[in-house]
This record gives sequence, C-alpha cells and structure tokens, in this order.
Amino acid sequence: MIDVQDLTKQYAGRTAVNHISFHVEPGEVVGFLGPNGAGKSTTMRILSGYMPATSGHATVAGFDVFHQSIQVRQSVGYMPEMAPLYTDMKVKEYLAFRAQLKGLSGASMRRRIGEVMDLTGVTDMRRRLIGNLSKGYRQRVALADALVHKPKLLILDEPTNGLDPVQIRHVRDLLRSLKSKHTVLLSTHILQEVEQSCDRVVMIHQGRIRANDTPQNLARQLRSTTLLHLELSGSGNLAAELAAIPGVRKANEDAGDSTPWRRFTLRVEPEHDVRDAVMDLATKKNWRIREMHRQLPTLEDVFVELSMNAGTPGDIPTHVL
Ligand SMILES: Nc1ncnc2c1ncn2[C@@H]1O[C@H](COP(=O)(O)OP(=O)(O)O)[C@@H](O)[C@H]1O
Ligand SMILES: [Mg+2]
Repeated sequence: MIDVQDLTKQYAGRTAVNHISFHVEPGEVVGFLGPNGAGKSTTMRILSGYMPATSGHATVAGFDVFHQSIQVRQSVGYMPEMAPLYTDMKVKEYLAFRAQLKGLSGASMRRRIGEVMDLTGVTDMRRRLIGNLSKGYRQRVALADALVHKPKLLILDEPTNGLDPVQIRHVRDLLRSLKSKHTVLLSTHILQEVEQSCDRVVMIHQGRIRANDTPQNLARQLRSTTLLHLELSGSGNLAAELAAIPGVRKANEDAGDSTPWRRFTLRVEPEHDVRDAVMDLATKKNWRIREMHRQLPTLEDVFVELSMNAGTPGDIPTHVL
C-alpha cells in the first residue's frame, strides 16, 4: 500500500528526511514513531501528495506520489498535524465543502457525511461553528474529513496530539474500528499509543529509520533484561537458589513483611523464559507460589536506547535496524 525507497527531503539545505525506505502492506496499522523534529510530518506530507521530495521514490496504492498526486490524494485520507479547518464554517457545511473537493456530490455525499459524522461522534455538533469547538472535536472533524471519500489508506499525523486521556481513548477506539476497512499510517511521539494500536512500528530519528518491527519484537530484542516478580513462601536463602537457575542474572529479595510470603525480583536474560524452571524448583523445594509476573521491556526502553545511540549508528544493535 505504501512503498518508500530512498526518500530524502531537504529544506533550505537542512536534511529533514535522510534516505529512508519502508513498506506498508494493505490492512496494516503502522505507527510512525519518533521525537519532535524526527521527520514524521515531512514524510507524511510527501506520501499524501502535498509536498515533493528532494530525491527518492514513493508510491501509495500503486500511484507515484510525485507524478500521480491527484490519484494519490484520492486514495489517501490525510489528517495533517495542524488541521487547516475553516473556523468560520459549520461542521456539516465544512464536511460538504471538503467532500465536494474530493469529488462527492448529491444524495450519496449527504449520506456519506452522515456516516462519517456518526463514526467520529460529531453529529451533535453539526451546526456548530468549527471555531467554537474544543480541540478534541476539531480533531474529530479533521478525521471525518480524512474519511469522507472512503480512502484505502489513512495517513494521520499525531491524531491524538493535544487531547485529554478520555479523548485519546475515543480516537484509539475509533482507529481500532477502522482497522478492518483501511490501511493506517499514524505518527505519534506517544509510545503507549503504538503499543496499543499498531501492528508494526517504524521508528525515525534525525531523518533516518532506526527500527522497523512489531512492538513486541522490538521490546523483546532489546538488550535490557526481563523482570520476573515472584511472591512465594519457603525458608532459607531463596534468593541464592533462584539466582542459580540458568538464565537468571540476579535475584533480589524485596523488602516487605507479610509472613510467610516473601517477594523476589529476578533479572532474566532477554531470550530466556525461566517461569517453568521456577515452578519446578518450587515443587522440588516445597515452596508455595502465589504470584508470578513477567515484565517485558517496554517500547519506551527501546526508544530511549535508540535515541541515545542516535549520533553513532554503528553502536545500534543490528537486529533493530
Ligand atoms: N517547512 C519547513 N521549512 C524548514 N524546515 C522544516 C520545515 N518543516 C519541518 N522542518 C524541519 O525538518 C525537520 C523535521 O520536521 P518534521 O517533519 O516536522 O518532524 P516531526 O513531524 O517528526 O516533528 C525538523 O528539523 C524541522 O525543523
Ligand atoms: Mg510532526
């Protein structure tokens, strides 16, 4: 659905996007993740057919973004970072104006506007001036605009930026409901968002792609250790016995006193799952376990690690590149 090859964009000598390549398959929801200034919006503007690149190639739904930008705009529902909403128009009026620009008309246009207003929850606001809407509702109107021509691909630039947690949850639920009908590329600098909504993550930093994988794989491949939290009963030096399990780097007994229960935190090698070994040991030693919880490294850990290594690409572990 999206094919980007060696794409570069320079603004007045400053390189915003630096020879990036990536693909998005039909039906995927891909998170485009990176800190402010990484090059996300620049890439999305190019892919939506609104700005030319300096060099490289990109196709969207089979159309070249440079030479077939009209077809590209018909295939893409683009929600820009700062939605250029006309503040002196009413919601429904604005959506009709936008739908006409995208080639819709008559009864089918009116029906479709009703559908997208319902989908994005702005039907009650349809007669309000956009200028009088809250940020959350403006974002929803921008999303309704992006959806109105039933595009195959949605390109959403920070769709939850500036929203409160309740509004963020609404947008997230909405994205989930769109998943079956649209391919989605959405940018964000919020890690939790991609962990919850995306099939795959493309991480960009200083104009370069730093990682491209599922959120789970990225977290798993990280060099950081996995933590295993345990609560069990037994006597003696349990920490030493737990530490002797292959794959356990370290076992600490946590402070606390809810006798006979004792809490431990194990630091485990990234590729190991020692839960079965812990169960076997407990059975052998007659310990009772009442809690065992594995804490995988989060995307945040990956992101911080990648950002710290950003100046020296050679240091980045090859498996995340
Ligand atoms: N219109 C522009 N003119 C000049 N520089 C720009 C322009 N837009 C973005 N930039 C610069 O390009 C880099 C990437 O910006 P952007 O694509 O907006 O990143 P992001 O969306 O990831 O925050 C930044 O250094 C930014 O300052
Ligand atoms: Mg941006």
